[in-house]
Amino acid sequence: TKQQQDELKQEAAKQAAAMVQPGSVLGVGTGSTVKFFIDALAAREQSEGLHLKAIVTTSSRSQKQLEGYGFTVSELADIGQADLIVDGADRVDANLDGIKGGGGALTLEKNVAVNCKKNVWIVDESKVVTHLSGFPLPVEVLPISASHLFTKFEAAGLEPAYRTQADGSKYITHYGNYIIDLGVSPLPIPAGLADYLDHTVGVVEHGLFLNLCDEVLIAHSDGTIEDRK
Ligand code: A5P
Repeated sequence: TKQQQDELKQEAAKQAAAMVQPGSVLGVGTGSTVKFFIDALAAREQSEGLHLKAIVTTSSRSQKQLEGYGFTVSELADIGQADLIVDGADRVDANLDGIKGGGGALTLEKNVAVNCKKNVWIVDESKVVTHLSGFPLPVEVLPISASHLFTKFEAAGLEPAYRTQADGSKYITHYGNYIIDLGVSPLPIPAGLADYLDHTVGVVEHGLFLNLCDEVLIAHSDGTIEDRK
């Protein structure tokens, strides 16, 4: 049930909150699991005082929740390296590589992730796969390049689809770009695909997070939390 799943996410979130070092610079991601992490972080703050040097986050939703608890949130550009980021993921494979960006904030998420000494993801077991599959890969593209890229992705067999809003219009990212979701599943060799996207003009960023995650806390339906690194 949803309640059982929430309890599992809560337990994983609590374990992640226990990893936060007092006085450190912390990154906070986005999603329903991270929401529980922020609750657990606030509980630690209240009971022991964490004196965090700075906090950055990847969404206005997480920012609001953090500020609601009295935390001050900084801009990524104004901090040095973060010591730890705790984030969710949409898929994670056996190498701890993942797909992120289901929420559309992949560019900021990746910029925070690469400027962070340690990346921890908290997920429930439904996200864990052997090979990255079962979730479209988000690609943020410049509007001027979008139609050409769409054709190119189609020809490459990547099964592109524009992300749209409820009214059918194209989804627009925080940075004024579009998202093309690549439906092909499983993804052809992730490292090759990431390299191809990294070298394609007009692609701003993509949701393949490779060699970035250091540790994953997996909430299993049997009630156990698996710590994979
Ligand atoms: C946002 O773009 C994603 O990468 C999130 O981290 C992901 O969707 C996790 O959300 P849930 O914890 O709600 O599944």
